Amino acid sequence: MDHFLYRDGQLFAEDVPVAEIAAQVGTPFYLYSRATLTRHFRLFQEALSGMDHVVCYAMKAASNQALLTILAKEGAGMDVVSGGEYARAKAAGVPGERIVFSGVGKTWEEMRAALEGGIRQFNLESEPEMEVLNQVALSMGVVAPVTIRVNPDVDAKTHAKIATGKSENKFGIPISRAREVYAHAASLKGLKIVGIDMHIGSQLTDLEPFRLAYRKVAELTETLRADGHDITRLDLGGGLGIPYVRSNEAPPLPLDWGQVIREEVGHLGCEVEIEPGRLIAGNSGILVSEVIFVKSGEGRDFLIIDAAMNDLIRPAMYEAHHDIVPLKEPAPGTEEQPYDIVGPVCESGDTFAKQRLMPPLEAGDLVAFRSAGAYGAVMASEYNSRPLIPEVLVDGDQFAVIRPRPSFDEMINRDTIPEWV
Ligand code: LLP
Repeated sequence: MDHFLYRDGQLFAEDVPVAEIAAQVGTPFYLYSRATLTRHFRLFQEALSGMDHVVCYAMKAASNQALLTILAKEGAGMDVVSGGEYARAKAAGVPGERIVFSGVGKTWEEMRAALEGGIRQFNLESEPEMEVLNQVALSMGVVAPVTIRVNPDVDAKTHAKIATGKSENKFGIPISRAREVYAHAASLKGLKIVGIDMHIGSQLTDLEPFRLAYRKVAELTETLRADGHDITRLDLGGGLGIPYVRSNEAPPLPLDWGQVIREEVGHLGCEVEIEPGRLIAGNSGILVSEVIFVKSGEGRDFLIIDAAMNDLIRPAMYEAHHDIVPLKEPAPGTEEQPYDIVGPVCESGDTFAKQRLMPPLEAGDLVAFRSAGAYGAVMASEYNSRPLIPEVLVDGDQFAVIRPRPSFDEMINRDTIPEWV
């Protein structure tokens, strides 16, 4: 459920007509609904209610400071994967004790900054990383709280580029080596083991892979405890999928996921941490774009719109589907026709959809990509010298630009020309 609905024949974001925002801000732009964002965050809080838990939003999904501030006020923790994300989380008011630091390639500087600013735990992914964090902590005279990310070798049944829990992936340590690696970590004086971490992939639409992975983690918890390790936290990652094709997809809900967590690890008495990103931000955002031309090709019509792959790369990168709807609600019984929906960037990969059935559209019409709140704005680039598009936030009947569109000069003037050129 989200708050982008047709009302009086046009698409609204909460209580504001999207076309009105488009008229003020210009297209293309990302538009978020505060009510949808908080609703989805709260679903996870409810899913784990009664269990000792922290929801650490995976801010890689959408990291505008306004969105982070809303979630921080809701009591969210954050899962960060870079020094930049750590700085954003702190700037949004998230206390260090609610920030977990994930990622396979944390640098010395990033570790140092997090230890200085406060951190709940580092989710370590390799032994070389463990050695470096140990040295950083010792050099600062502190002890770093850590979990180790285990790779449970479970098939997440998702797109290959976003599956992370198979042994061939770069993430974590093989679960078969966990005892050895935990023993190594325990011998390092700058580290304190607090738990186990895992994350098997993103956009999972089946709970079974989660169940299998959590079962393995539960077994490992018992084994490591028997080895004398103090396992008090389980970070179970994120990855719950969202319905991108609304007409025929109904992935499991956070409540169902929470139930699997209760069943598989509830008896261990651990504090549970989860890192959902997509399900919190995904349906909270749309991408609004204008049709520039309708071009008739051989046997097909192209809708050329003013958004492009640099603004939303998911279709080009993962063959991802986004529902695309006109801002003007089609009259009942309107006959749809197939379009190839493309952007202005100079490569064929700049295709959002092929032969997509849409009501007849013409130049100047506005469309919205649904479910674009996660991995949309954050993955944008300025390819083809197209400045990053604005982000706008709606809350009830008010809206505000939360990242303005840079002018061409602002984009150009970030470059510097050496005197000797
Ligand atoms: N935790 C870790 C360690 C992760 O690597 C990720 C996502 C998450 C949590 C959050 O997963 P989520 O709940 O959002 O599924 N750009 C891709 C998705 C990449 C996901 C990377 N890791 C896309 O557009 O589909």
